[in-house]
Amino acid sequence: MGGARVGGTTPGDMERAEQDNVIKSKLGRIDRKIFVMSGKGGVGKSTVAAYLALLLSQKGYKVGLMDVDLHGPSVPLLFNVQGGLQIVDNVVHPYRFSDHLGIVSMGMLLGDRDAAVIWRGPLKISAIRQFISDIEWGDLDFLIIDSPPGTGDEPLTVAQTIPDAEAVIVTTPQEISLADVRKSITFCRQVHMTILGVVENMSGLSCPYCGKEISLFGKGGGMSMAAAMGVSLLGEIPIDPEMVKMGDKGGLDRLTENVDLEINRAYDGIIAKLINNRSS
Ligand SMILES: Nc1ncnc2c1ncn2[C@@H]1O[C@H](COP(=O)(O)OP(=O)(O)OP(=O)(O)O)[C@@H](O)[C@H]1O
Ligand SMILES: [Mg+2]
Repeated sequence: MGGARVGGTTPGDMERAEQDNVIKSKLGRIDRKIFVMSGKGGVGKSTVAAYLALLLSQKGYKVGLMDVDLHGPSVPLLFNVQGGLQIVDNVVHPYRFSDHLGIVSMGMLLGDRDAAVIWRGPLKISAIRQFISDIEWGDLDFLIIDSPPGTGDEPLTVAQTIPDAEAVIVTTPQEISLADVRKSITFCRQVHMTILGVVENMSGLSCPYCGKEISLFGKGGGMSMAAAMGVSLLGEIPIDPEMVKMGDKGGLDRLTENVDLEINRAYDGIIAKLINNRSS
């Protein structure tokens, strides 16, 4: 146990079997595990994962946010997390953003925010497993998992470690992103991960001067792709320059206060679907 083990050596067979049991029992205390993924980088996965976690926690659900992007952990930046994991009586607890929201990210374990993590696959697998086995998540309604783009070690480890994870796939409207998202859908089907649906992020922009909609990256690509691939569209989130500003400042939570924001209405719709469309 202990924070120092995270990122350490890979366990032997015995230790791995023991760890499997611990992981199983920890996951048994978490009702829903929502895995936010995408084939493409920069489409807003971390923002979507962080904002969903935040909104769910504000609705009174007990939420954990686990950032398995080991090379480019964004979650601590989005929430301006200054502290690290909390160790009490040799037990490692997530960083407490609020009463209802705990966060774990590799970014909290690196002293220097600009440090680069250079790891081969087995160490990444080991670190992600330890994010579950060695952390006292407690009883949660939701564990929201943010991942790096693509279908590499991190998503595969999540799929293999959390058999009842449900995927939310984030895309932007343009074909170059949709092409990669189709690969994410195929990945989920290959590893038997339930797909809750697709979120089209950066879907149109309201002109701040005249209010007219500008289709910066196009619009509706997510809907037609979802229909063609036989998955649900969970919602379309517009571009909001405030989201960039608040994300950069680490103040995402300040955006939730204005319920009339278009993004907040879009997120509300997505949350309603997440709550109602559970896979099991
Ligand atoms: N709806 C939105 N409106 C405006 N900006 C957004 C929106 N969603 C995300 N962004 C911005 O887009 C940028 C990329 O977002 P983010 O880091 O969440 O993407 P990502 O998919 O997690 O990237 P990576 O693949 O590197 O992990 C950030 O500056 C974020 O603030
Ligand atoms: Mg990210």
